[in-house]
Amino acid sequence: MTKVIVLNSHDIGTLLDMPAVIQVINDAYTEKATKDGEIWPMVYNAFSEMADTDIRSGLLRSKKIFGNKELTWFGNNSKKSLPELHGVVTLYSSETGAPEAFINAPALTGFRTGAAGAVATKKLANPNSETLLMVGAGGQAAYQIMAQICVLPKLKQVLIYDPMSSENAEKFAQELSQKLTTLFADSIQTNQPTVAAKIKERIKQIKFIAASDIIKATKDAQVIVTATPSTKPLIKAQWVQPGTHINAIGADMEGKQELDTQLYQNARPFVDDLDQAGEVGETQNPIKEKVIKKADVTEIGDVITKKAVGRQDTKEITIFDSTGIALQDLEAANLVLQRAKQFNAGVVVDL
Ligand SMILES: NC(=O)c1ccc[n+]([C@@H]2O[C@H](COP(=O)([O-])OP(=O)(O)OC[C@H]3O[C@@H](n4cnc5c(N)ncnc54)[C@H](O)[C@@H]3O)[C@@H](O)[C@H]2O)c1
Repeated sequence: MTKVIVLNSHDIGTLLDMPAVIQVINDAYTEKATKDGEIWPMVYNAFSEMADTDIRSGLLRSKKIFGNKELTWFGNNSKKSLPELHGVVTLYSSETGAPEAFINAPALTGFRTGAAGAVATKKLANPNSETLLMVGAGGQAAYQIMAQICVLPKLKQVLIYDPMSSENAEKFAQELSQKLTTLFADSIQTNQPTVAAKIKERIKQIKFIAASDIIKATKDAQVIVTATPSTKPLIKAQWVQPGTHINAIGADMEGKQELDTQLYQNARPFVDDLDQAGEVGETQNPIKEKVIKKADVTEIGDVITKKAVGRQDTKEITIFDSTGIALQDLEAANLVLQRAKQFNAGVVVDL
């Protein structure tokens, strides 16, 4: 019989720390650029306007693993007091084809998507940035904010804007310090006390403030992260100050949009995967409106491997469009699997 480790969301929280995930997501983009990793065609199916599923899969040669993540979104589940997102990452050995792990996908997705924004910020934002604007206060927001805190050493305040509900932004901002501590520091305290202490210290130093005026908040921010399912621009070009870096996380389907396409007139666009971003990411919109061409867009892996330049001066506006690639899921899943073996975590089943 084949022995497979099953890891739930609690295991992920206690085993993963955001700084380590940022490092492996940096590796994932490198492996895409060097072709050490392969991304296989994505499968997507909509059951209705309120329910869909997608499967992302690929191979990580250097880690000797391949696998897939199936994520399902059933938007009416909240009325049944059930989570809207479900899913599993399955990892296999590329030497034997045997399955090695079944891992909770929503928790892993939060970590790897937060880390994606952090890798881009580290490469593209002005390192002295003091104010972060988070647009969206849903499931991804805490992961995004934690990851930005890890890579912005001068960060003093985080402004939180929810386009649908200022009450939600207020509540989210009030509870955020405690939530970040519980999710990212307390959970790893036993395995990694030194990392936990550093994360707690950073969280304590930062102010979390709900923003009701998106124009002022955009003008005040040096780094902006958008993570909403919006289909209309939320950030207008004229509000964005020179030198700002934006991570557009929310658009991962045709029709989604968070940024004004005119912003691309004066900004340098970066993406995780050029083809995917041009079809389903934020980048689909300026390409459709012919504000930019695909040839104007740079993959972040090329910046990391120095095939392309990142930020050229402190006044440039940079935009990173994250659509999510399988190599991110595989790298994050491999990290949690290795740590589970190290700390004897999870449940081993005979398949
Ligand atoms: N790029 C990636 O790899 C990646 C990974 C995970 C999620 N996502 C995407 O990120 C987005 C946010 O995910 P989440 O899990 O935080 O969602 P969520 O539903 O938990 O939260 C969404 C936030 O956006 C607000 N919102 C809802 N509908 C809106 C609308 N029509 N216009 C503007 N704001 C709206 C909500 O009030 C909330 O603050 C989704 O579009 C999701 O598909 C992308």
